[in-house]
Amino acid sequence: MKMPSIDSNSMKALVYHGPGQKAWEVKPKPVIKETTDAIIRVTMTTVCGTDLHILKGDVSTVTNGRILGHEGIGIIEEVGKNVIDFHKGDKVLISCITACGRCSFCRKGMFSHCRNGGWILGNLIDGTQAEYVRIPYADTSLYALPSGIDDEAATMLSDILPTSLECGVLNGQVKPGDIVAIVGAGPVGLSALLNAQLYSPAEIITIDLDDNRLKTASLLGATKVVNSSDGKAVEHIMTFTNGAGVDVAIEAVGLVKTFDICQSIIAPGGHIANIGVHGKPVELHLEKLWSSNITLTTRLVDTITTPLLLNMVQLGRIDAKKLVSHRFELSEIMKAYDIFENAAKEHALKVVLKNAS
Ligand SMILES: NC(=O)c1ccc[n+]([C@@H]2O[C@H](COP(=O)([O-])OP(=O)(O)OC[C@H]3O[C@@H](n4cnc5c(N)ncnc54)[C@H](O)[C@@H]3O)[C@@H](O)[C@H]2O)c1
Ligand SMILES: [Zn+2]
Ligand SMILES: [Zn+2]
Repeated sequence: MKMPSIDSNSMKALVYHGPGQKAWEVKPKPVIKETTDAIIRVTMTTVCGTDLHILKGDVSTVTNGRILGHEGIGIIEEVGKNVIDFHKGDKVLISCITACGRCSFCRKGMFSHCRNGGWILGNLIDGTQAEYVRIPYADTSLYALPSGIDDEAATMLSDILPTSLECGVLNGQVKPGDIVAIVGAGPVGLSALLNAQLYSPAEIITIDLDDNRLKTASLLGATKVVNSSDGKAVEHIMTFTNGAGVDVAIEAVGLVKTFDICQSIIAPGGHIANIGVHGKPVELHLEKLWSSNITLTTRLVDTITTPLLLNMVQLGRIDAKKLVSHRFELSEIMKAYDIFENAAKEHALKVVLKNAS
């Protein structure tokens, strides 16, 4: 049963208390601080692989007391007087990236590096794993949701769909006939699998340690799957490709080992597109790659493809709901983290949390 918030100025939220420590606790309800802010009543949120990196201590900018979460949808509760396009009662998508729309990076379409925003939600400011959240620069950081769009599918648009499209598929320059390898079949890797198919590659090989996630990858369109727990992923992929390697290697894990797989399987002229958040340095094998004409890209999602993806999800061209495996009440978020942290054992993909209040 849902526990009521303590009083009308308080709410419940998932709070970070240093590596390995989090709590579902009472926090003050956010208020408008700037005239361009909006306060959203979160109706659905989810947990990201990046939240797990934060809890491992990989993201040093997140400090004790921060409300986590950078994904979700909700209903506008209140807007500052300079918010033009949104009004109380509107149903909105919260982008994981906050964009002022006016700084030099925003003007280049690089919202991820907005001088006044960027990835701040659940990082430098309080995030969406709460009953309410304050969104700065509401006009350029929120998207109106069409009525009738599925809530779970819409929630996948905050982060994983634009991330996998921009950092993985577009940076990797996937094109018709390519052989693509996606290392990591978590929600981000599986989203990359859905997005890559829009560009008609000949093969999509998905690599993971978790047979259940690989099974899902096959159902979602992977032409080959490789379980890398035997340490022989590179050999398997080189055999599949007759020794040529792959045209595009998308890194969707964030570990030394998985980056190594990408640099070992890339064909001459290929693209390695890193998505994973890395907590440790990797060894770049330029002694092998210097002559291979490869391109290595990194990117923090800019969310410039969000309107396009919103359209594709609404038209049913991307079946984002298939990325959701578990559903909880928001008040059960500690349990949801537990399931997501033990994804292999629990057969978990994306876990969504509904705020029924
Ligand atoms: N660049 C960005 O803007 C951005 C945005 C969002 C997420 N991310 C990052 O993307 C990555 C993936 O996110 P997610 O939510 O899918 O995470 P996740 O933790 O759910 O998935 C990671 C997957 O990698 C697999 N894996 C772990 N070690 C492996 C190995 N040695 N070989 C093969 N597979 C292995 C796991 O089994 C799991 O399925 C994370 O690092 C996340 O922080 C980056
Ligand atoms: Zn994320
Ligand atoms: Zn900006």
